[in-house]
Amino acid sequence: ALERTLSIIKPDAVAKNVIGEIYARFEKAGLKVVAAKMKHLSRQEAEGFYAVHKERPFFKALVEFMISGPVMIQALEGENAILKNRELMGATNPKDAAPGTIRADFADSIDANAVHGSDAADTAAVEIAYFFATTEIFSR
Ligand code: CMP
Repeated sequence: ALERTLSIIKPDAVAKNVIGEIYARFEKAGLKVVAAKMKHLSRQEAEGFYAVHKERPFFKALVEFMISGPVMIQALEGENAILKNRELMGATNPKDAAPGTIRADFADSIDANAVHGSDAADTAAVEIAYFFATTEIFSR
């Protein structure tokens, strides 16, 4: 099915200057960037985005990391976009990520893991709406 997913290039990957390399992987896989913005998240925005992880032991470190520098946020559209993006990203922990995935190539640790991607259709809709108004999404 034609889907949309929310992708974030995290502060570590933005600092490494690999936004373009990561966008090229999306495009080569048939995913289209239909919305995009660069943003330095406030603590409140990061906590709200990751609210489902509030009780997890890594929550505080996750928020600190996500506000440590600017991020690049995009909505991706394509056939099976959610799973396709997760395959491109590789496992959450770069130590477990398959060779050739974004996390294997660009991530340093489970916290500084280069990218975020929605894990399911319901969370994708919530996450896209968290960052983009419908008028900022250009379906094509
Ligand atoms: P992300 O896909 O952005 O969703 C939550 C983030 O928490 C995850 O990527 C990791 O960067 C971070 N994290 C840190 N420790 C863990 C853990 N033990 N399990 C899952 N996510 C973790």
